[in-house]
Amino acid sequence: MEKIKLGIVGFGFMGHCDADMMNTFDEIDLVAVADTNPDQLKDAPEGVETYANIDEMLANADINVVMVSTPNPSHPEMVKKAAAAKKHVICEKPAAMSIAEYDEMVAACKENGVLFTVHQQRRWDKDYRIMKEVYDKNLVGDMYIIKSQLYGVNGNMHDWHIYPEMGGGMLYDWGVHLIDQMLDMVKSEVVSLYADVQNVINENVDDYFKIILKFKNGVTAEIELGTYYLTPKRAWFIGGKKGSAIIDGFGGEGKIVRTAHLLENVPGKITMTAAGPTRSFGPPEPGLLSEEPLPEVNVAHRNYFEHFLKAFNGEEEIIVKPEQVRRVLRLMDAVRESAKTGKSIAFEE
Ligand SMILES: NC(=O)c1ccc[n+]([C@@H]2O[C@H](COP(=O)([O-])OP(=O)(O)OC[C@H]3O[C@@H](n4cnc5c(N)ncnc54)[C@H](O)[C@@H]3O)[C@@H](O)[C@H]2O)c1
Repeated sequence: MEKIKLGIVGFGFMGHCDADMMNTFDEIDLVAVADTNPDQLKDAPEGVETYANIDEMLANADINVVMVSTPNPSHPEMVKKAAAAKKHVICEKPAAMSIAEYDEMVAACKENGVLFTVHQQRRWDKDYRIMKEVYDKNLVGDMYIIKSQLYGVNGNMHDWHIYPEMGGGMLYDWGVHLIDQMLDMVKSEVVSLYADVQNVINENVDDYFKIILKFKNGVTAEIELGTYYLTPKRAWFIGGKKGSAIIDGFGGEGKIVRTAHLLENVPGKITMTAAGPTRSFGPPEPGLLSEEPLPEVNVAHRNYFEHFLKAFNGEEEIIVKPEQVRRVLRLMDAVRESAKTGKSIAFEE
């Protein structure tokens, strides 16, 4: 197996995370890091070359893969330069802030015969993979709704994330991952979408969004994120005709719940609740509901690089494919359009 000799451009938060990850691989050597801010290079690992910019780093003939971890607007320039230097490229998400720029990046990699992929490592998140198993194995029968929710309490966004021109805001941040996961799970065309995007406590960038996707196979998906939602949560819900699957937490804690009166039209029993008498929303009768564990999965973000190593060696096809990344970017454009007009948008695949 040929070794990856990696150069990271942009040695900030993500650059450091990735450098730490590379330490855990015998088959990947971190050769160099480049950053325009010299302070960021001070804690570069011993033996790793440091450069003041990507051009100097690309002159290092040892490097065969470049990881682009600079802020969002610089991704197109970095990717095109790396491709021209015949280095394979892993780009941070969002790959680009416009489809036109994205197409140029992909074309540059194609022309130079190098691999191009995007760091969508959240396809290996445990909570997501458990729900993907529920979906793939049809564990709750025909599905009518899938919800993916992420709520945090901190509200504030930091550094360049507060500037729209830098690709700030939560849509470009977690939004890319949450949309990518949903499109990866529901393998069907998106027919239409409706989105609400708000700046709750950040003046210039979005910090709340709700996206509703209608898929051709009948599934409706809802993705909701709030950074100022004072009940932190990472939750999933899949509603099917043979059960409900629920997750609360990145660790994948949750259950599948089934009912003894499956799809039967049970005669209404009037129950007194705090909301008054009800037939549909009273507590379940004893024995009506049963619980099952969720499927077990064994995944970690390390799997992203394990897979890339195989793709680099021609043993696997790239999993995060350029056309899938393009679809997410197109969908994000439609999300912004829907939020601006307040109308649902037909989506042409
Ligand atoms: N995949 C993920 O889960 C994930 C998580 C966080 C961030 N990201 C992405 O990673 C990228 C970087 O985000 P971050 O949070 O690490 O930002 P950061 O600000 O912490 O780091 C960016 C670094 O790039 C350097 N830089 C800026 N312009 C440069 C240039 N032209 N040439 C060389 N270096 C330059 C900065 O000095 C800084 O050190 C963003 O695209 C972000 O969306 C991805």
